[in-house]
Amino acid sequence: MTVMSDLVQLTRANGIAIVTINNPPVNALSPGVPEGISEAIEQINQDDSVKAAVLIGGGRTFVAGADIKEFGKITSGKSRGAGFLPLLLRIEDCRKPVVMAIHGAALGGGLELAMAGHYRVAVPSAQVGQPEVKLGIIPGAGGTQRLPRLAGVAKGVEMCAEGNPIKAQEALRLGIVDRLIEGDLLAGAVAFAREIAGKPAPKTRQRNDKLGTPEQNAPIFAAARETARKKQRGMKAPLAAIEAVEAATKLPFEEGCQAEQRLFTDCLFSDQSKALIHVFFGEREVAKIPDIPKETPIIPVNAAAIVGAGTMGGGIAMVFANAGIPVLLREVDQAALDRGLATIQKNYANSVKRGRFTQQFADERLKLIQPTLSYDGFASVDMVVEAVFESMALKKEVFRELDGVCKPGAILASNTSTLDIDEIASATSRPQAVIGTHFFSPANVMRLLEIVRGKATSKEVIATCMQLAKKLGKIAVLVGNCRGFVGNRMFHPYRREAQFLVEEGASVEAVDNALYDYGMAMGPLATGDLAGLDVGWRIRKEYRHLEKPGVRQPLAEDRLCELGRYGQKTGAGWYKYGENRRAVPDPEVAELVRQWAEEAGIPQRQIAAEESVERCIYALVNEGARLLEEGYALRAVDIDIIYLNGYGFPGYRGGPMWYADTVGLKKVYDRVCEFHRQHGELWEPSSLLKQLAEKGKTFADFNREQGVTA
Ligand code: 3HC
Ligand code: NAI
Repeated sequence: MTVMSDLVQLTRANGIAIVTINNPPVNALSPGVPEGISEAIEQINQDDSVKAAVLIGGGRTFVAGADIKEFGKITSGKSRGAGFLPLLLRIEDCRKPVVMAIHGAALGGGLELAMAGHYRVAVPSAQVGQPEVKLGIIPGAGGTQRLPRLAGVAKGVEMCAEGNPIKAQEALRLGIVDRLIEGDLLAGAVAFAREIAGKPAPKTRQRNDKLGTPEQNAPIFAAARETARKKQRGMKAPLAAIEAVEAATKLPFEEGCQAEQRLFTDCLFSDQSKALIHVFFGEREVAKIPDIPKETPIIPVNAAAIVGAGTMGGGIAMVFANAGIPVLLREVDQAALDRGLATIQKNYANSVKRGRFTQQFADERLKLIQPTLSYDGFASVDMVVEAVFESMALKKEVFRELDGVCKPGAILASNTSTLDIDEIASATSRPQAVIGTHFFSPANVMRLLEIVRGKATSKEVIATCMQLAKKLGKIAVLVGNCRGFVGNRMFHPYRREAQFLVEEGASVEAVDNALYDYGMAMGPLATGDLAGLDVGWRIRKEYRHLEKPGVRQPLAEDRLCELGRYGQKTGAGWYKYGENRRAVPDPEVAELVRQWAEEAGIPQRQIAAEESVERCIYALVNEGARLLEEGYALRAVDIDIIYLNGYGFPGYRGGPMWYADTVGLKKVYDRVCEFHRQHGELWEPSSLLKQLAEKGKTFADFNREQGVTA
């Protein structure tokens, strides 16, 4: 064996050279890997006994792409980047055919590496893709030039612009992969290499037969641009990726690569890319809880139960079933149970209709959900999620019952969105087993799961829920036990400001459009209509006694509710809703709000879109800072991940706290102080925001200093 470096090894077996990349965990192309491959190719070229070569990844995967950690060094001027393009040309020009053997994933630079080989073989479970746009960049090592040459322009542009990987079977059909290998990949790849050894080896960059004509390609690129503007609204990278693939169809390979390089560099240095890279690492960071070691024992969750088959309970049952975990679903009466099951069946039927699930998958999952009106069977489940009405008395009663029937060690979780987990836990003899699992609606769709830590919740129970979330296809963020937890506590001032703006003279549509144009999936007022304005109204009525006298409260939503305008469900709220629940501006609301504002003595004025954005977004940031200083959120990035996955915050802005760092905390703080002067104590600046702004620091600095960021 020749050891090129710790990262790349070269061995020979009867005329076939085997190059193995060993850079765990995902064989990223970190410094040393390209150099090792290059040296191996050099030796293969020089060794006459070698007739063909196989390049394979050691461990669990082929190559997950460029080392994303290196990008920060490039943009901060600490590194010049690896420049993979020349290496890939050397592989393609190798005098012996090179077979790329793919298992796990060939993503980004990994697929670019694979396409520089003369052939590609893969196990059926492998995936290939150019996911760079999800990091705000585009393929930077010829991916936009080689992929359309293998897969055709339509698929090439789709994969580069949308970033979703495809499975090996489809890659075979498209011509990205030449053969699927059942059984041992290395043995299969070596056998394939022997078959093709000595035969002319195709170079991807010279294959122009799938590049189409201008007439064929024009509608493909027009459609891709249209899709990007709709599905990746506000993002620059997808449009850049389309431009780069278009260059592949118009320019010779080398010039196409130069065009790709220019676009890649523009994207890499953009704020969008920095934000999305922050999100990539953030999504992994939130799984790490400083005081809960990796070795914390995990409680196996092989069977679960849900109490309550309403909006949330039904969705949560589907989440468990979809992950293959059998689940009991308990209701109080047959009619409620039937309603809950009918909704679940309808949801599965819709998923089959939309092609998300096969009929067989849906049938199998449905069988895993066992409806019941009793607690029979609860003694053997490992975890229960309670999703009954939001009433403390009812929740305590349910937890008392669960304490009586569940086995020792079972996890008792509540899906409450506002109630105190410690008080719920006090109804049991085992508060260490009680935890909040706050799913978002619709539970079977939304990715976010806030895990609420009670004061007695054990580390085993927390570690288990964090890990289980991944199996359930969710992204879990651990939060402290305060009213509204992290997400909803911040959402409250955000929506409050949206209402204030309307009461001060902005139109409903102007406020919603400003936030939509900022990148939010929906405007704050339209979001209220979707969730139901009555939900907040009921809560406000219950907590009215806690409101400080003399402090301004929004008035319009309560009044709208008093008029029966609850939002989409009643056909009217901030907007009117006709067929297909399409929102239509309602002049009656505009008139009513003007009248209410006049009665309340609120002066009317012109409000610019920029103010709408600052009022709503800085309200989020100020409350987020408070959650950080109070310790209910562990890190600023936890808040970002919550907002990106649960509240439609645009990924390319990195989350509210990252965005505030990008704007500059001094600027944010100054605006918050101005709003404080204009609008009173609701805008009192968080002391953490003040401190950081005065010292010229960021939320990221704060987390580093606290030692809670990796
Ligand atoms: N660079 C650096 N680190 C990476 C990485 C990469 N490309 N891909 C994954 N990692 C790290 C993760 O941060 C994580 O680190 P941690 O354990 O310290 O938190 C570790 O590897 C394991 O990753 P996951 O937890 O994500 O492991 P999974 O098994 O769940 O997923 C994966 C594996 C599907 C490969 C997933 O990691 C992934 O999607 N990676 C990114 C792929 C990607 O975007 N590639 C394109 C890179 S840009 C590029 O190649 C530019 C080129 O065109 C020049
Ligand atoms: P829902 O009203 O749709 O469903 C509650 C169900 O619980 C009803 O079907 C009711 O019959 C059943 N139930 C009541 N007592 C029961 C008992 N003792 N045993 C078994 N079933 C019982 O309510 P929804 O919206 O599903 O909310 C459930 C919980 O989830 C609440 O705590 C709520 O705050 C929380 N939540 C709700 C969200 C939403 O958007 N709807 C979002 C996140 C959390």
